[in-house]
Amino acid sequence: MKLNSANINVMVKACRKASKILIRDFGEIENLQVSQKGPGDFVTVSDKRVEKIIIEELQKARPTYSILSEEIGNIKNDESFQWVIDPIDGTANFLHGIPHFAISIGLEQNKEIVCGIIYDPIKDEMFAAEKGNGAYLNNQRIRVSARKKLNECIIFTGGPKHDSKDKDLVLEEYRNFSSKILIPIRKMGSASLDMAYVAAGRCDGFWQRNLNYWDVAAGIIIVKEAGGFVTDFKGNNDYLKNKTILVTNSRINKEMTEVLK
Ligand code: 2AM
Ligand code: CA
Repeated sequence: MKLNSANINVMVKACRKASKILIRDFGEIENLQVSQKGPGDFVTVSDKRVEKIIIEELQKARPTYSILSEEIGNIKNDESFQWVIDPIDGTANFLHGIPHFAISIGLEQNKEIVCGIIYDPIKDEMFAAEKGNGAYLNNQRIRVSARKKLNECIIFTGGPKHDSKDKDLVLEEYRNFSSKILIPIRKMGSASLDMAYVAAGRCDGFWQRNLNYWDVAAGIIIVKEAGGFVTDFKGNNDYLKNKTILVTNSRINKEMTEVLK
């Protein structure tokens, strides 16, 4: 890894420690305790174990920083720094033995994400970025793809959830993109990895409704530092407020916003 600021090192260390437990649990998923947070929304004992290790490690190194994490919520402290954590992004994949999920950790400074890591423990792929210092996959600098024509692109999306009030809208968007692109849309099941793949140039664009901040926080800085755009469906900056996120290689941003109109 070429990024080695103190904060990146703290995040990577916490993440690597937690990922050992995650890999162990993935080998024994048939024995894991699972509970349901809502219809189709599951949480495993692993989400909680991984979260606990990450939080302990981060607090040891940075005792004054605030925390926002998916399973436990907020730990309020110094408001100018906040860790934003998704212990397992892609829990449904994890639970079904599909090796595509990630740990996602972002760091906010004065409400802006300044560092992020997304780690796929199965493929041992660490995506990381820091404001002004670029985006990396393991030791290699990454950049978004150069594709300019939407019809030649690979596009990702997620959702809609079982009880989503936006189900018809999402299916309409899916239909509209399907008629514009030659390669069928992919649904990989982990929003953070979807963003990391745009940053690495594997995927050209990703759109999704109703994601939470912890699903996208680390991805925001990784995509931006790799030269991509993170916007709402209109191409504006209000993606957190609107809960509509469009992530692109920048070149197809305009064409994608036209389809989403
Ligand atoms: P999770 O695994 O942390 O729950 C699946 O489409 C991806 O979207 C996963 O990254 C999943 O995160 C996330 N997701 C979270 N909330 C969602 C929602 N309300 N609708 C669709 N996907 C959601
Ligand atoms: Ca999660």
